[in-house]
Amino acid sequence: MRTTFLPYCRPTLDDDEIASVVATLRAGWLTSGPAVAEFEQAFARAAEVPHAIALNSCTAALHVALRAMGVGPGDDVVMPSLTFVAGAQCVLELGARPVFADIDPRTFSVSARTIEAALTERTRVVIAMPYAGRPLDIDAVVSLAHARGIRVLEDAAHAVGTLDRGRWAGARADAAAYSFYATKNLSTGEGGMLVTHDAVLAERARVLALHGMDRDAWKRYSATGSWRYDVREPGFKYNLADPLAALGLAGLERLDARQTRRAEIACIYTERIAALPGLQAQAEVDRDDDRMSWCMYALLVDPVRAGITRDTLVERLRDERIGASVHYIPTHRFSGYRALASTPLPMTEFVADRILSLPLYPGMSDDDVESVLDALERSVTPRAFALGGR
Ligand SMILES: Cc1ncc(COP(=O)(O)O)c(C=O)c1O
Repeated sequence: MRTTFLPYCRPTLDDDEIASVVATLRAGWLTSGPAVAEFEQAFARAAEVPHAIALNSCTAALHVALRAMGVGPGDDVVMPSLTFVAGAQCVLELGARPVFADIDPRTFSVSARTIEAALTERTRVVIAMPYAGRPLDIDAVVSLAHARGIRVLEDAAHAVGTLDRGRWAGARADAAAYSFYATKNLSTGEGGMLVTHDAVLAERARVLALHGMDRDAWKRYSATGSWRYDVREPGFKYNLADPLAALGLAGLERLDARQTRRAEIACIYTERIAALPGLQAQAEVDRDDDRMSWCMYALLVDPVRAGITRDTLVERLRDERIGASVHYIPTHRFSGYRALASTPLPMTEFVADRILSLPLYPGMSDDDVESVLDALERSVTPRAFALGGR
């Protein structure tokens, strides 16, 4: 058993990354300025999209994107329930209605098929969320939606590092919202990025993200700036500060190396978990040009075959000094969201009762990985082992 607690998540930061933040602090410009511009350009290049807008969260990116897509009272937005509550919250804030689509129990994400079953006459936007950064075949979702005049927003919170048919999230959807929250593959503590091909949407989102102003502080206070600005419409205060953008830029430069370590750990987990009774990992990618981001490592616990329920397994791992977690309590089960009418979501219910996430981050040593697997092996029943996994 471990002698120290292995947290579910721990940021990976090297000295040069920390130095790049300190350099920004010394540069004399703290709010959105040159570091944000550089981060946006680098991100847009990596994602192969013309527009990237750095914001202070993925929630902010979802909010401005939905508003820029015209979502308002009387509209429906189809989305998963097995996700973080941010998307549904933004839809409600805009006076529209979240309509939940069921998930594919192999991938834990919505699919074109489950989305189609949830579409209504009033659907204006579909939000697709590649769970744990497993690509969900966005092309099929886009074809389905565009044929009906519906726009597609990818909640790409888990998808830094994901390739869907060789391309980043957002490269084929109408827009995608990334998260740089503390638990994500690329983190600035708090932060987000909206990417899109649509110049009109990008411009509106940029203005909405800063009170509806047509000029940010850099454009007003820098040597070539002007104090004049217009406010085109009421907006929000969602801009990212330069020191956090510097952290994001440094993390982006290190992304590939860190993805390699994530994939290595995931590969060890998958191999060993396949031999354990009652544990089933998320399905891996379907195509050669797909790539998982491994933002999380999720598996299902079959209580009968594993001889332990998911809830007890989380506690058992904690007793073994391992921080496991659950993603997610589905939105429709929250007291504040129960009133939303929903068609039955059998696969969401099934997965939500069994799903568990293991620690997976580049800073984990081989011994850390081994300790997680040892603890799992000790936690599933010897009887189930004897029956060869039945
Ligand atoms: C799937 C999903 N969507 C949206 C968000 C919101 O991200 P942020 O905290 O950057 O607003 C998260 C954050 O955990 C998430 O996991």
